[in-house]
Amino acid sequence: MRKMKTVNIVAGIMLAFALVSCGSEPAKFADVTSERLLNASSTPEEWLTYGGTYDEQRHSGLTQINLDNVDELGVAWTYDLATARGVESTPIVVDGVMYVTSAWSVVHALDARTGEELWVYDPDVDRAVGVNACCDVVNRGVAVWEGKIFVGVIDGRLEALDAETGALIWSRVTVDRSKPYTITGAPRVVKGNVLIGNGGAELGVRGYISAYAADTGDMSWRFYTVPNPSKQPDDAASDAAFEAIGNVSWGDEGAWTTDGGGGTVWDSIIYDDVNDNIIFGVGNGSPWNRDYRDPAQGDNLFLSSIVAVDATSGAYKWHYQTTPGDNWDYTATQTIILADLPVGSDGALRRVAMQAPKNGFFYVIDAATGEFISGEAFVPQNWAIGLDETGRPIELPEARYSDTPYYQAPGALGAHNWHPMAFNPDLNLAYIPAQEIPDAYARDNIFPDREQNWNTGTNLTAGLPMDLDLGTAMALRATLKGRLIAWDPVTQSARWSVEHSNAWNGGVLSTAGGLVFQGRLEGEFSAYNAATGEKLWGQNVKAGAASGPGTYAIDGEQYVTITTGWGSAYALAGGSAYDQPVPPIVGKVVTFKLGGTETIPDPDLILPPRTPKAEAFGDEDLLQTGFDQYHYNCRVCHGPLAISSGVLPDLRWSYITADAEAWNSVVIDGSLAANGMVSFASALSEGDAEAIRAYVLKQAHDGAEMEAMVAAAMAAEADAAAAP
Ligand code: HEC
Repeated sequence: MRKMKTVNIVAGIMLAFALVSCGSEPAKFADVTSERLLNASSTPEEWLTYGGTYDEQRHSGLTQINLDNVDELGVAWTYDLATARGVESTPIVVDGVMYVTSAWSVVHALDARTGEELWVYDPDVDRAVGVNACCDVVNRGVAVWEGKIFVGVIDGRLEALDAETGALIWSRVTVDRSKPYTITGAPRVVKGNVLIGNGGAELGVRGYISAYAADTGDMSWRFYTVPNPSKQPDDAASDAAFEAIGNVSWGDEGAWTTDGGGGTVWDSIIYDDVNDNIIFGVGNGSPWNRDYRDPAQGDNLFLSSIVAVDATSGAYKWHYQTTPGDNWDYTATQTIILADLPVGSDGALRRVAMQAPKNGFFYVIDAATGEFISGEAFVPQNWAIGLDETGRPIELPEARYSDTPYYQAPGALGAHNWHPMAFNPDLNLAYIPAQEIPDAYARDNIFPDREQNWNTGTNLTAGLPMDLDLGTAMALRATLKGRLIAWDPVTQSARWSVEHSNAWNGGVLSTAGGLVFQGRLEGEFSAYNAATGEKLWGQNVKAGAASGPGTYAIDGEQYVTITTGWGSAYALAGGSAYDQPVPPIVGKVVTFKLGGTETIPDPDLILPPRTPKAEAFGDEDLLQTGFDQYHYNCRVCHGPLAISSGVLPDLRWSYITADAEAWNSVVIDGSLAANGMVSFASALSEGDAEAIRAYVLKQAHDGAEMEAMVAAAMAAEADAAAAP
């Protein structure tokens, strides 16, 4: 029934729209009502909510850019987001105005036709909170409703801005600021409530989703995803669910009682208007390792689950747990999409929710009841034999790792991460930005004694030798893959797939023009034939392009847009793909139209000399301590093996690394805390800090040798090419 819109209706609406809006500023900014949101799929010239519509298919009815002419796309305009940190935002476009966020939760309002800036709102975040952000200080976008713009701020605020001026209307702290909560996800507005979750389950928090009245900022309800340690009611919408089914799925002891248990709602929140439910995805356990988290080894509701609650009261309706007793950071926060699929008896249409979570299985579940319909692995995986008839994974015992590392696919970065998935309702295909990134999981025996930062009970560097040479590391890295998979959810199989050379993927847009758009970390933004996967167009956008692309139309002209930049979890914790210098890259909004003739400016290449600034020192024991402590405490921001991707300083080439006193003042005394490099005094002794310095200098000398080899090989290649 939702598929009945035809190209003619769409064209007619576009024409009517062109007649009423002649390019000037709207009479009222962000004049978005519940009705407009409910009908968003019939006004494809707008992009009104994070996933395009409430069912978050990210499928636009616009057809002006299509299979026949997509190769005529060119740049219409670019806008500088003025940040060199990660950019993950999907722009909202309403009545000719674009609202887009960048790092540190800064909001930009632009003329969507020209990219001209209308206003910028900076919530002025204390940079020291960056230490709480597991995966960079990113933001995925705003929500709009009745003249207001809503943004979740990385330090836990939810704020309402005047859509016309960017002036602050109200601000609420939605978290306990003594805990390492962050917000990176886009709010959604449903029935006059702004819905927002949070993140922090790598560092120890208790997850929940909250609803705040859009008009006043008063809290309407909150649903916790994990019981409180006493298992007593919270006076919250989740109380009845915990009493009935949640509490018994947790033991009475274990680290969850002090570390919050996790289960953060950091990304997907959708509205099912047919069943009047809000459906959201719940994240991993905190700590990851269930042996520490809950020695009673329960399923730990509602970790790694899709949960539906009443849209008005927040009362529990149903849940489906994708990974009972999560042990691997297998979040179920990934894109949730609603659609009517022919999976009922005799092929009748059934309203379903679909998700491709980190655990590697694609799920189709009943949207009214949460009943499991089908599930199949969409990437190679080695943690479960398969799913039983209720959809519960049949685990391989080895996957419940202990001291012996188990090399598992998918790893903690997931078979699919935050990169938005899309769905084409005409072809019944879901487009999954899939990843093949395994991890070696082992118990972290130091867990109970560590205080600060990432403390997951899981040691992801177990099995990695301290003196791993960079050549081997790069060869290992080359085995990781990314894919764009067109997945048929009815037959649970891939229709086509495109392999990417970089494992970290990009969000997807589907259009009625028969196209699928996707950006990639290497900087290419491409269009594919939605039915076959044939690549039809590509453009180098000169920065990582991982966020969800969008499309809209003004005065009958269709635009395609994507935010670009360099950062996020993969860039920080994953490091540089090729141990090559990445210049400081400034985030941008890049917008295309047919026949666009603008160019994208080149990034400036300002790099410190990539040479060690001091002699190496330290014996085997000191270096091993440095390796361990570096990977526990520093890797998530400065990169594995001390190789940074360029977002944050590469410590190997730093003058501060060369000087024991300067190093101590940064690492122990926190002299750069105001810039986001906080003191590690509560986690490290001065001796540990010095051991890390020794390890970083060893890596600097090894890296310099490697660079010389790469440079020599490249020079030889150039000589050979020049020879007659
Ligand atoms: C949460 C992210 C984060 C973590 C974890 C982190 N750092 Fe940093 N670090 C930063 C940021 C951000 C900067 C840049 C600060 C600035 O711009 O002045 C930085 C800068 C530094 C610098 C200064 C480099 C220079 O040349 O300016 C040193 C030294 C450093 N970090 C050491 C460490 C060590 C050692 C650890 C682990 C014990 C660590 N960092 C963990 C975020 C982090």
